[in-house]
Amino acid sequence: MSSTDATPETAPSEDMLIIHGGTPLEGEVHVRGAKNLVSKAMVAALLGTSPSVLRSVPAIRDVEVVTGLLRVHGVDVELDGDTLYMDPTSVESAGVEEINVHAGTSRIPILLCGPLLHRLGRAFIPDLGGCNIGGRPIDFHLDALRKFGAVVDKDSDGTHLSAPNGLHGIRYELEYPSVGATEQVLLTAVMAKGTTELRNAAIEPEIIDLICILQKMGAIIKVHTNRVIEIVGVDELKGYSHRALPDRIEAASWASAALATQGSVYVRGAQQTDMMTFLNVFRSIGGAYEVNDDPNEGGIRFWHPGTPLKPVALETDVHPGLMTDWQQPIVVALTQADGLSIMHETVYENRFGYTSELRRMGANIELYSDCLGGTPCRWGRRNFLHSAVIAGPSKLHAADLQIPDLRAGFSHLIAAMAAEGTSRVYGVDRYITRGYENFEAKLLGLGAKIERPTSSLADRR
Ligand code: EPZ
Repeated sequence: MSSTDATPETAPSEDMLIIHGGTPLEGEVHVRGAKNLVSKAMVAALLGTSPSVLRSVPAIRDVEVVTGLLRVHGVDVELDGDTLYMDPTSVESAGVEEINVHAGTSRIPILLCGPLLHRLGRAFIPDLGGCNIGGRPIDFHLDALRKFGAVVDKDSDGTHLSAPNGLHGIRYELEYPSVGATEQVLLTAVMAKGTTELRNAAIEPEIIDLICILQKMGAIIKVHTNRVIEIVGVDELKGYSHRALPDRIEAASWASAALATQGSVYVRGAQQTDMMTFLNVFRSIGGAYEVNDDPNEGGIRFWHPGTPLKPVALETDVHPGLMTDWQQPIVVALTQADGLSIMHETVYENRFGYTSELRRMGANIELYSDCLGGTPCRWGRRNFLHSAVIAGPSKLHAADLQIPDLRAGFSHLIAAMAAEGTSRVYGVDRYITRGYENFEAKLLGLGAKIERPTSSLADRR
């Protein structure tokens, strides 16, 4: 998935949204369960000896991909409204071809390894997909799996794993608090023989929610201070019933859209506790918000108060720092701030590719390989363009845009809505639908002036 594999010249014209910018977004959207928890919760269901029920599941493509992966492994998956029923009682091995149908579209296949090794004694990792935002190696995953006792064979068709002697608990320290590698260790350790101690673990709210799910299934997991997680392996886990925590990335995307378009959006379902860092940033920039903690209708209203936005210096980090997935929508809002802002990306080495499109729209953004935040990070020494200086306010004008990945794609939509004139944004179905439920209906509900291309417009291209 690269920014060059579908340019405006080659992208199918129907995978495009026409956006007439300049209208403030006003109204309400509802966010359901977090993409980055729901997909992992679905994998956890594989570990149970009885069915699991997951509620608040968003209608996004990543859920379809994991549904496909579970089904080829014999799990019966049914969706009723936003509730997912998963029955793993007849789990079976899948053929490489069957798994490969779902290859290249998501990072999730690698997380099936631990559960499948426990259930079947073997697993297969196809070519992984996900967004093109850096090298995205899987060395931590494979290293941990080997230490648990897995035998890893790389082949031309993918990576085959087996566990001839079962899996046993390990003491393991992550080089970096990787979300996926922490989930890998959790999903493997819960049924490994003995105790696992994971040091330098990621502690994102989605991981804590996954731990809650595993605990409901019968796992014993202790979250200690200083990023240490201890897991006592058990012989059997049962199914779970759980409501997924809300998607804080989607919530922040709508909040940033409200700010950039000078609008006001009530994000029903957004939760203050998981968004504290974002809320602080939002307020520092000059945005306003109000939290409604009603148990049913609760959420957060975000709006532009009408006074000039202020520049800020920010850096992304692992939780509880500023999420790397909040970076792109915030940068679009910062193009409207009065002065010089800095964004230092410390999680991924290559997550500013989307700014070239913003520059074409009139944004004043320069990239640097120095660590422009307070903290030297892994990427500074290696010459990656991972710091951005944003000089605002810039009058954004319409452009034809090619979406390079999921989060960058949503920030392109925000920029097009904030810009003057009519933009054409390519790749919306391919990328945005991976993680944003009903985004088009939500945009229309907020008063955005958007339309799909008519054949005459497509013919003109
Ligand atoms: C998860 O990716 C999310 N994806 C990402 O969201 C999110 O940006 C990221 O966590 C950070 O919060 C899902 O949950 C499906 P990592 P993950 O392992 O787990 C390096 C979105 O748009 N690393 O925490 O793949 C890696 O290269 C997506 O929703 C290794 O070096 O991220 C990166 O620099 C985009 N070796 C850093 O760790 C490894 O084996 C953090 O990655 C694994 C990771």
